[in-house]
Amino acid sequence: MSHSTDQAKTRCLALLPDAAEPPTPRPGQTLDDVLAFDPARRIWLKSGLGAAVLSLFGAPALAGNADRTNGGADVGGKAPDTGRPYTAGLDPAQDYTVRFESVPRSLADRVVVPPGYEVQVLFSSGDAVEAGSTSWTEGVFPSWDVAGRRAGGDHDGMHYFELPGVDPRRGGLLAINHEQVDMRVFFAEETFPGNAFDEKTATPEQKRVALSAVGVSIIEIEFDGGTWRIQRDSRYNRRYTGNTVYDVGGPARERVGATVTGTLNNCSSGATPWGTYLTCEEATFNYFDSSQPRHGYGWVVELDPQGRILRQGVKRTAMGRFNHENVAWLDDADRRVAFYMGDDSTPGCIYKFVPDRPYDAADRAANLGLLDEGTLYVARFEPSGQGKWLPLKQGLPGLTAAEGYATQADILVECQRAAVAAGGTVMDRPEWITVGPGKDIHVTLTNYNGRGGKVPVDDANPRPENHHGHIIRWTEAGHSPLATAFTWDIFLLAGDPRQAAAQGKPNLAGNIQGDSFSSPDGLRQDPAGRLWVQTDMNLGAVATPAVFGNNGMYCVDPATGQSKRFLVGPVGCELTGVAYTPDLTTFFVNIQHPTQAWPTAGRTPRSSTLAIRRTDGAPVGA
Ligand code: FEO
Ligand code: CA
Ligand code: CA
Ligand code: CA
Repeated sequence: MSHSTDQAKTRCLALLPDAAEPPTPRPGQTLDDVLAFDPARRIWLKSGLGAAVLSLFGAPALAGNADRTNGGADVGGKAPDTGRPYTAGLDPAQDYTVRFESVPRSLADRVVVPPGYEVQVLFSSGDAVEAGSTSWTEGVFPSWDVAGRRAGGDHDGMHYFELPGVDPRRGGLLAINHEQVDMRVFFAEETFPGNAFDEKTATPEQKRVALSAVGVSIIEIEFDGGTWRIQRDSRYNRRYTGNTVYDVGGPARERVGATVTGTLNNCSSGATPWGTYLTCEEATFNYFDSSQPRHGYGWVVELDPQGRILRQGVKRTAMGRFNHENVAWLDDADRRVAFYMGDDSTPGCIYKFVPDRPYDAADRAANLGLLDEGTLYVARFEPSGQGKWLPLKQGLPGLTAAEGYATQADILVECQRAAVAAGGTVMDRPEWITVGPGKDIHVTLTNYNGRGGKVPVDDANPRPENHHGHIIRWTEAGHSPLATAFTWDIFLLAGDPRQAAAQGKPNLAGNIQGDSFSSPDGLRQDPAGRLWVQTDMNLGAVATPAVFGNNGMYCVDPATGQSKRFLVGPVGCELTGVAYTPDLTTFFVNIQHPTQAWPTAGRTPRSSTLAIRRTDGAPVGA
């Protein structure tokens, strides 16, 4: 059914002209000579910026691998394909101290940012993606194949990738996850009562439309004339959807099959040091089309935004099957790397995957098998701040054939059960994990109210009713991705003391200094060390509108927990997805599922990607 679309895409990529390949120096040429010949590409700037000494919220320096971790220059300090060092990044002469003016709480149906900032709506649900495709029109609902070439719904995790030969401050690729369907964009109001997709009543065509609206968009963008715009005819623009076919790699291929139709519930994401995108499936079954095989979903899917080293996505089963939220990586000087992942279950564990081999920084294609062979660990948070990584390997205690794990594939497919059997700690719904320039790692635990009975409280999850969530921080022993031990503490407890006092419930009190928030979800520490927190709370009796306002984005000092509200979203939305140009002058942020009439008054609300800049062109936040 979906094969025709997928084959068409593969054909299309196969027919790309040679000029689409990145330039390669011939003997006697420098790369600069070659780049100068590339008319389709814009200038390289040679600033040769190295590691910067940084300050934050007025505090001194975070040093370390600001240009190497995934909180840093995003693809490992080498330009994809060419091995050429990046030429744009943090400016050693720039002061990154956080100085923006905190915005007030808001319940308005608009995006609120500090004075001196401008917001552009760049990319909305239903917008054209693939070259030659059309954009959404109010009141017109697309067939599945038309929808499958436009932006999906519920923009979520996102990453900005540099392109060989392109100044990344002025152009690159955005990979954007589509977690769910913006129902009102894809279906007439009367199709599904309450705009809730119902697989029981859906026709095969309607299922395909819904599956077209999830997955990933790749768009090439360019900064020109003071605004960002999408390159409508770019050969890179492409959709990966719930109808396209994915290869299966790793040990569970024997149980899952060689291919799976569809990726879905593409929540958040990450990148690899070799410049591929990791889109994370937060559901373990196909709820739009349950006729699809079991075990095909709940994986991390690797794809190449440039479409060069991978022609289609690959489900990396060695990384485990669970409700994946995002992926963040930490590497060392020998290019050994660990990938950290949370299971957003009620409750779920925290994992890391360590490939058997170091990655190759010069040859992207040499890394293609890296995520298929390695060790998957689950985290155990011990009392008093110690932690252990427990390997999930067939044959270890609790993981034998007698317990139902005859092969490693069985462990990977039944990962949530195996992790608990091995002694992993179940957490209060792990959302995003981020690795900062100082190699500290933070994770958001968004909220969970089910402790006290079958799931007891513990030191890492101390609230019986954790309405507002918390953030945990840990450090690997020796800052090594290969460590099997770590130290941890609770970085902050979310919630507002005033609300707790008003309701007589000390359990609701948080310890955030400054602007308080509830239900942290999106989380990213940028190369300057600033921790950006995005919220996903349901306003109501506990997270009250008067105390918290709409969901927003906060800048938090990792040293002190001091918080400043940077952005407030429109009515009904959550904030999720944060990416940036390497010099931090543009931030890309997603507004997911607005409910009223944003971004256009009087029209159907649409999930959208924002581009946020300072009017003076200086780095965001400073
Ligand atoms: Fe899709 Fe756990 O958020
Ligand atoms: Ca969501
Ligand atoms: Ca999330
Ligand atoms: Ca959430």
